[in-house]
Amino acid sequence: MKLGVCYYPEHWSEKHWETDAKEMREAGISIVRIAEFAWAKMEKEEGIYDWDWLDRSIETLATAGHQILLCTPTAAPPAWLISAHPDILPVDEQGRRRRFGSRRHYCPNNKIYHEYSKKITRAMAERYGDHPSVIGWQIDNEFGCYFTRCYCETCTTEFQNWLQKKYASLEELNERWGTIFWSQTYNSWGQIEPYNLTVAEPNPSHVLDYYRFASDSWVDYQQIQIDALRENIPSTQFITHNVIANLNTIDYHDLSRNLDFISWDSYPTGYAEMGSQDIYAPDEKIPAYAHDLGDPLLTGFFHTLSRGLKQAPFWIMEHQTGAINWSENNTGVRPGALRLWTWQAAATGAEAVVYFRWKASRFGLEQHHDGLRKHDGSADTGYADLLTLKAESQELDDFIAQPLDTPVGILLDYDTLWAMEMQPHRKDFAYMKHLFVFYRACKALGIEPDIISPEADLGRYKILLAPNTFMADENLAQILDDFSTQGGTLMLGVRSGFKDINNVVTEEPLPGLFCELIGAKVIQWHSLPPKIVYSLQSEIPDFYPEATFWAEALEADAGTKSLANYTDFPFESSSAITEKKHGDGKVVYCGIYPELKQAKSLMRHLLASENIAMLDIPEGLTVIQRGKKLLAMNFTEKNLHLDTAFGEYNISARDFTIIEE
Ligand code: GAL
Ligand code: ZN
Repeated sequence: MKLGVCYYPEHWSEKHWETDAKEMREAGISIVRIAEFAWAKMEKEEGIYDWDWLDRSIETLATAGHQILLCTPTAAPPAWLISAHPDILPVDEQGRRRRFGSRRHYCPNNKIYHEYSKKITRAMAERYGDHPSVIGWQIDNEFGCYFTRCYCETCTTEFQNWLQKKYASLEELNERWGTIFWSQTYNSWGQIEPYNLTVAEPNPSHVLDYYRFASDSWVDYQQIQIDALRENIPSTQFITHNVIANLNTIDYHDLSRNLDFISWDSYPTGYAEMGSQDIYAPDEKIPAYAHDLGDPLLTGFFHTLSRGLKQAPFWIMEHQTGAINWSENNTGVRPGALRLWTWQAAATGAEAVVYFRWKASRFGLEQHHDGLRKHDGSADTGYADLLTLKAESQELDDFIAQPLDTPVGILLDYDTLWAMEMQPHRKDFAYMKHLFVFYRACKALGIEPDIISPEADLGRYKILLAPNTFMADENLAQILDDFSTQGGTLMLGVRSGFKDINNVVTEEPLPGLFCELIGAKVIQWHSLPPKIVYSLQSEIPDFYPEATFWAEALEADAGTKSLANYTDFPFESSSAITEKKHGDGKVVYCGIYPELKQAKSLMRHLLASENIAMLDIPEGLTVIQRGKKLLAMNFTEKNLHLDTAFGEYNISARDFTIIEE
């Protein structure tokens, strides 16, 4: 397991550099990430480079035995560049051009910015590409942070070009977008503007294409830097980017495609405080113990999502070490947190954990953000945890040397996520919330799922969950059909097949392209307000007999079994969940939006039918199985018990136990 740290030599007097490098090594750190915001120091004025300080900094770190991860500095274009070319600044949804004075102040489509980005990237790559201690590169920093969609003049023109390439003719676009609605028919490409600033809500097909275009813009911008790097660095140096895993505005499957691996930035307490409402059901609360440890389910969900982007190990490029500065309470972190976080990350597939940051900053926005060392250079809480981790490193390495088995795949499709986000139909009907219920159901049964693109290698899974396949095309229908025909168990969730990929409703009975596959039709659907429930009767053991939130009435074809029926008005006698044999496999359609306990019963049913062993994991315990070893992590303040087929175990509060079969 590799440990690293984010370091800003430009923030500190050189007299500290050697001590810093030495103290990092003492704590088991061997990778140092530098330079992602240092453009103004590397190129003080246009074309006037100063590499001396960076040379010396790299040498100091390398001499202490560190490997260096260099970042391109394009997340922070310097003042001289912006004052010479103010059009680089992005324009927000309200049509306001944003100003210099923070970071991420550029439009990804600006051609002048492309040239400057290439120039600085090449200059860095030429200088450090053959340095024996430089192991790889991070491009930019957190694409999409603060904003993803720019609405400037360049983006308008580029959007029109993007549309022309996609649709070839205006007739085609008008047809596919359904612009006849409200007389939105276009007569020339130049009439099509970004959707912001419309009087009433815009056409969802138009919006979806703008979302896709904006996502593509970042993918293409990243490619400019990948190319500039690859031309100048050896193939032994890797290229990655650090995403915000809960962002959802960039298609991370596209973004990760040409990277050697994906990285994400994990701040468990911040995500628990700020992000839980986006992922839990409205009546659920994040667990109380999460206040200074974050919510291990939320953190784990993003680890899993990151691992699924390339179906491969990933890096944590920034990991919280103490209090952060951008949340609501910015909780102080107690001893032991960093140790548990690091074990969880490694066990879930992180190949390296890079901590943010070495020393707390004395100036700028992040003065109240902790690092491993305090402002005065003395050790902070996280540093002590690193010393514990150092002592446990062999145990950790032995654990992660075991294979990670993920028998269940959960589909993630960003286009559908966006379509759902713009027309949820029911408050709180959110794509990620729906996925999260099934993720939690798996975790509660001791199963680590993968979260993957429909284009991924699905042959690895015995069970494939598609909780929210709102948009569908023939290609996806074929992929899912093949999966079950070849022996897999497929589950489709509510609202499947409702739309085509233009964000237009299907002309077929629901679930559209999946009717034959599921062997049933959705004849009616109801959004259920709080406290309104429809009663159910199910043959699935312990299935909680009430539909809440969203219910669909299904009419099963002959040969399709009903696993659950509605028992009262208005869906009386209709099916709520169906199951059909399909080829060598089977297809389940879950016509209700399940609560966690229902998703758990359904998962138990599916896992049992595939003979996959399960556990019953108590709340607060996070279990990850690798090979014949189980890592049971207790994130609560009480001791917890775990029963397994080979014994009963006590796991101490805020601690972990490794159980071997
Ligand atoms: C990240 C960012 C870092 C730093 C950190 C603070 O989103 O990439 O540069 O600002 O947050 O938590
Ligand atoms: Zn723009």
